[in-house]
Amino acid sequence: MSPTRFILATLVLALTVTAAPPKKEDDDPNAPVSYFKKVRPIFQAQCQGCHQPAKAKGGYVMTDFAKLIAGGEECAKDGTRAVVPKEPEKSVLIDQITPDRGEAAMPKKKPPLAEKDIALIRRWVAEGAVDDTPANARQRFDAEHPPVYARPPVITSLDFSPDGALLAVAGFHEVLLWKSDGSEMLARLVGMSERIQTVRFSPDGKRLAACGGRPAQMGEVQIWDVEKRTLALSVPVGFDTVYGIAWSPDGKLVSFGCPDNTLRAINATTGAQVLQQTSHSDWVLGTAFNAAGDQLVSVGRDMSAKLTEMATQRFIDNISSITPGALRGGLQSVARHPVRDEFLVGGADGVPQAYRIVRKVQRHIGDNALCIRKWPAMEGRIYAVDFAPDGLRFAAVSSLDGKGAVTFYNYDFNTEMPADILAIEGKDEGARNDAEKAKLAAHYVSDAKVLGTLPLDAGQFALRWLRDGTGVAIAGEDGKVRIVTAAEPKVLKEFMPVQIGPAPATAVR
Ligand code: HEC
Repeated sequence: MSPTRFILATLVLALTVTAAPPKKEDDDPNAPVSYFKKVRPIFQAQCQGCHQPAKAKGGYVMTDFAKLIAGGEECAKDGTRAVVPKEPEKSVLIDQITPDRGEAAMPKKKPPLAEKDIALIRRWVAEGAVDDTPANARQRFDAEHPPVYARPPVITSLDFSPDGALLAVAGFHEVLLWKSDGSEMLARLVGMSERIQTVRFSPDGKRLAACGGRPAQMGEVQIWDVEKRTLALSVPVGFDTVYGIAWSPDGKLVSFGCPDNTLRAINATTGAQVLQQTSHSDWVLGTAFNAAGDQLVSVGRDMSAKLTEMATQRFIDNISSITPGALRGGLQSVARHPVRDEFLVGGADGVPQAYRIVRKVQRHIGDNALCIRKWPAMEGRIYAVDFAPDGLRFAAVSSLDGKGAVTFYNYDFNTEMPADILAIEGKDEGARNDAEKAKLAAHYVSDAKVLGTLPLDAGQFALRWLRDGTGVAIAGEDGKVRIVTAAEPKVLKEFMPVQIGPAPATAVR
């Protein structure tokens, strides 16, 4: 199946699952409590961030049913069990979540679970603590059982560490850490999420953020300690995959987009949510902070780029035009210029566009006055855009019917708006004559050039510039990472970041 069809198929599946009317048994208060449908989602949202193989606080793993029942270090020491079927009073887990004078031991450092959730878990234990997880929904891989690849995984994202030494590649159920020249795999970072949508090193390179999830089941943000190769934080987010993670310039926050149409940001050390914003009308797929870190740009399937203020969590402005027809498809990717508050966006119509976020002329509903340039379209959809470190070039990758390409574009022009263009932008759209409209349209494509393009026999979804600016690393549906030179684009090197076959590629750390 082509990745687009695969994505569509899972999307349809996700929609069907969410849209299905609640079944009768869910409404019947006397029906036995379902672990899979009722108890597991509570554990997932409230407990598994600290109790999973990659991060087992107190030696307790709650993602594996046998271990969930058995308990952790304390239970082992005391000869007790976390869950004793039919006996909630003897179950350490029940004891830990039951509040005493308003405080419960678990979830640690958080408010106690809702009373009705505690009652539900207690009843599930009393009824025998049955595992009704369907066979096809069982977690197959974790840090102790890393994935084994029968065929290459689709690669959705990659990133270089700031010093250029490491390359992180999103795999299936894991992030692979490679030497950046592709000569050696250094680590496999296996977490709970089946799909990793985006990986990004923190500005100081000490941490690696990954976001993803399991479609129609869970979303998750992971923060890894790069040096120790350990999971520092796992934050469950809602019940579907999350996208487009980005670090704030000071490395304190990460932002990401959700299929519930929200844009969110959390503290990357504590996991506390600091922003939740609902101005998009469809999935939010890409996010980027401005240089000062006080504003966020987000793009999504609703074909728009929006600006949000961190401090107030308020929507400030539509960056792209919201006039019907201005954009012809959803936006997939956003990247900030290395020094200026200018942003590249790319998406379904294949046209890379650059926007500023500070208005120079009065705002008119539906105007496009923040647009700086539009470049010639790529064939297919753009899945990723990225500025070169010098800010004078950028690149984009695309996918269409099993083919792909990487294209290099110029950014070496004066991005200030000329006075005559500003004057036209300052007029109401209806008041512009045909000559003015034509002048405006010509301005946005003037001095926008294609520097080079390289077609490939596989759709490309991931792209990052090499830190030395000589080229890019790209990857996509055939699972290969390719290093492509920027000057006269050609493949300098390619490698498969996972080992295909029965044996794991390296020892697991
Ligand atoms: C922020 C991290 C965190 C979260 C969230 C969390 N725990 Fe814990 N849990 C811990 C730590 C740390 C320990 C080790 C004991 C301690 O430090 O209190 C622990 C220990 C336990 C133990 C004892 C296991 C043993 O045998 O040693 C149980 C049971 C437990 N947690 C259940 C839960 C449940 C149920 C939830 C969700 C409702 C939860 N925890 C959420 C951090 C967490």
